[in-house]
Amino acid sequence: MPVTGHYFKRTLVKRLVFGSLVVTLLLGGFVLWDDLERVDDAIIGVTQVEAEQVSPRLPVEFGAIDDQVRNSVRSMLASFLTERAQQADGHFIIAEIYDLDQHSIADSVMPGAESIDKAIDAAGHRFSHRRVWYAKHLIDGQLVIHVTVPLFTKAGTAQGWFEGAFIQSWPALARIALSGLRSSALVLIAIFATTALLYPVMASLSAGLIQRSQALLDANLGTLEALGGAVAKRDSDTSSHNYRVTLTAMRIAKAIGLSDQSFRALIKGAFLHDVGKVAIPDAILLKPGRLTPDEFTVMKTHVSHGLDVISHQDWLADAAPVVGGHHEKFDGSGYPRGAKGEDIPLIARIFAIADVFDALTSQRPYKSALPLEEALAIMIDGRGSHFDPVLLDVFLGLAPQLHVESANREEVALVDDLRMATKAAFVETV
Ligand SMILES: [Fe+2]
Repeated sequence: MPVTGHYFKRTLVKRLVFGSLVVTLLLGGFVLWDDLERVDDAIIGVTQVEAEQVSPRLPVEFGAIDDQVRNSVRSMLASFLTERAQQADGHFIIAEIYDLDQHSIADSVMPGAESIDKAIDAAGHRFSHRRVWYAKHLIDGQLVIHVTVPLFTKAGTAQGWFEGAFIQSWPALARIALSGLRSSALVLIAIFATTALLYPVMASLSAGLIQRSQALLDANLGTLEALGGAVAKRDSDTSSHNYRVTLTAMRIAKAIGLSDQSFRALIKGAFLHDVGKVAIPDAILLKPGRLTPDEFTVMKTHVSHGLDVISHQDWLADAAPVVGGHHEKFDGSGYPRGAKGEDIPLIARIFAIADVFDALTSQRPYKSALPLEEALAIMIDGRGSHFDPVLLDVFLGLAPQLHVESANREEVALVDDLRMATKAAFVETV
């Protein structure tokens, strides 16, 4: 579909922004996840180093655990907690030692940390022989890192486990997070910078495409005008009927909020509705008096001839509902199918109103133009029989204004109006 330079730039910007957002979300999400993993690793590293301070203070083997051993471990843990409480970045507030059978030997809880002790007990823990296990909890507005660390003697013999609740200070946490987030920010900047660099390159590469596209649109619209005009010349010696009828149909369509796609099909159909008349013999097409039944039968074939003409061109194919349905009537008494009500395509029902209105209010070699009131009276007579009643009511609201406009317009001005409106309809593509 042809596009304007402005439309193209808008679409290009939209797509680039959308593309960069998707890449940012995917890549940024991955980098952020990776950063958070690193923040975790840093926190766990600190806790592990702290926990390993306990190991040298424990007996090499617990052996028989009696009250004396328990008391000595408890008192060691209490002094460990107190000593390390001065650490600026964070410290343990709960410490507990387990033997190799995962039985608790002794614990120590700093004053004020009893509720945290309960909360982490309830959350549960795991023991791993090889690595630090941890879980993060937000308790009473504080980030608590719950860890279990396997303990080993200097000789590398397993001793048991240290379990603790570590409080990381917020400034320390922010520092770690910030250093990680810096790489996320760099990724985002890189993606947006690439997008900004790509835009002018792509816009410039596409300039030729836009020009060709616009030329193609002009050529297609010119074909519409030429084909419609050729038939109109043969029929009535003027193209004005085609211009006015198309403008009227467009106004009705706008008033009912017709979709863009149907609107474009309506315009094509309006230009080409009688294109099949090229196949009707002059003796019938130009006969001044009434047609005989046989002549009328031939005249009606302009609909099928019209469908045949447009069927050879993809770009014209969506004019078919109007070309094929513009002589159908709402009560089923029209031709060629005798289609009824909503079986007649909406754009054909719109067009039928515009077509009859223009025929009644225009001067022809064999008749003079009817005044607006008389023309509308005839059309109201056809409400529900010839015309879709809902569409006719919409049209009746627009008719006085349309009549004033078209009565005072020269053909040249009509052509200008129509070209502008038509081009706008075809370039405003989604
Ligand atoms: Fe016709």
